[in-house]
Amino acid sequence: MAYVITGPCVDVKDKACVPVCPVECIYEGGRMLYIQPEECINCALCLSVCPVQAIYADDAVPDDQRGFVAANAEFFGAGVTGWGSPGGAGPRYVSDKDHAVVAALPLR
Ligand code: F3S
Repeated sequence: MAYVITGPCVDVKDKACVPVCPVECIYEGGRMLYIQPEECINCALCLSVCPVQAIYADDAVPDDQRGFVAANAEFFGAGVTGWGSPGGAGPRYVSDKDHAVVAALPLR
């Protein structure tokens, strides 16, 4: 299991979730942030601080947001950033790219 960032984050990027993550598994893309599912330890701290309730456990994502489960994982794959599992976010791991599901959304 892992936590997943969903649509309400798009074009908001509040980032309150970033400093509370003890393993720094929340990475910045162009229009939203993404959780590296292999690095997430399921502590749920991020969930409680997001002001727009964008974060869910992967087995509790609302039906209309299910595409974000794959989008979070695939953001780190060769089709988007190719970062794999960098082992912690930081200045070296910020991207202006987004998963195709996110890039296709209309601007808010
Ligand atoms: Fe996005 Fe909420 Fe984090 S808006 S950047 S998931 S605090």
